[in-house]
Parts: sequence; C-alpha cells; structure tokens
Amino acid sequence: MKTLCLYYTRTGITKEIMENIAASTGADLAEYTDGKDRKGFLGYVGACFATVRNSVSKVTIKGAPDLKSYDRVIIGMPVWVEGPCAIGKALIKKYSDKMPDDVYYVVTHMGKNDYMGKIRALDSLLGKPSSGQVSIKTKDNDYIKDSQGFIDRLEKH
Ligand SMILES: Cc1cc2nc3c(=O)[nH]c(=O)nc-3n(C[C@H](O)[C@H](O)[C@H](O)COP(=O)(O)O)c2cc1C
Repeated sequence: MKTLCLYYTRTGITKEIMENIAASTGADLAEYTDGKDRKGFLGYVGACFATVRNSVSKVTIKGAPDLKSYDRVIIGMPVWVEGPCAIGKALIKKYSDKMPDDVYYVVTHMGKNDYMGKIRALDSLLGKPSSGQVSIKTKDNDYIKDSQGFIDRLEKH
C-alpha cells in the first residue's frame, strides 16, 4: 500500500514520531507548513493567536507530492490550545478533495488527557470519515512506543 506521512512540527516531536511511522511502514514523508517561523516565545504566542483566531490560510506541502497517487495518507500534527493545531486543520481543509479514501490522524500533545473527540471532529473538514486516529502524549512518555502501537494497528487494518 503506497503511503504518505505528512507532518507539521514546531519543536520536532511530531516530526520524530512521523519519521518513525514512515520508516516502519515504508511510507514517503513530507512536511507541511504555513511558512511562518514559530520558534521561541514569540512563535509560541503567534501560534496561540493563530489558533484562537483560526487565522491560518496559507499551507503548503514541501515537495508538492501528488496526494492522489497514494492509497493512504497519515497526517501528523501537534495540539495547540486544546485542539489539533490551526495549520493541520488548514491542511485538511485545503487538500480534502485530493486525499485518498484512507486518511489517518496522528495528534501529539503534552498533557495527559487525550484529544480523541476533537481529533475525530477533523472529519468535518475532511468531508468523510477518517480511517483511524491516535492521540499521543509526548511529555514524560515513551511516545515512540505509543506510535509503534499505532503502527501495529495500522498493519492489521
Ligand atoms: C501554542 C501551543 C499550544 C499548546 N497547547 C497545548 C494544549 O492545549 N494541550 C497540550 O497537551 N499540549 C499543548 N501544546 C504542546 C504541544 O502539543 C506538544 O508539545 C507537541 O507534542 C509538540 O509537537 P512538535 O514538537 O511537533 O511541535 C501546545 C504547544 C503550543 C506551541
């Protein structure tokens, strides 16, 4: 099955998780971005504003892969302000008509509560039910092990 893993990352954790998923599943890997430098304290504040205002409009996938040539797309994104980040939401909205039938979400967050309800709600942007979702805690947790659990479920699908 030809798979593409997509990720947005601010501090590298979602990237690391998606690299692991891509390596374990033989998938291609690409980063998506809104082109803004969101590093450091000012970047953090900007990310909060972008979330609250839902103001991310421009999002592109580096290398511009042809989404239609894939059987499966796995989208990684961090949580910002109690929900999947604005850039991930903008990506899903922009590319929903180009996504294959099988779309999965991998959402990373520091806190212990999972975000499954809000992750499933991404389907309203996708316009169809996603095939699977995972909410991965990244602080004080073996998040690579958790991502391995997701890969195992994926392989049984
Ligand atoms: C603006 C902002 C808001 C955040 N809000 C939350 C939150 O509400 N709940 C949570 O558990 N983590 C929150 N986080 C933490 C990130 O979701 C978490 O550290 C994530 O794994 C970082 O992924 P990255 O390294 O790929 O950017 C927030 C991070 C940022 C930058």
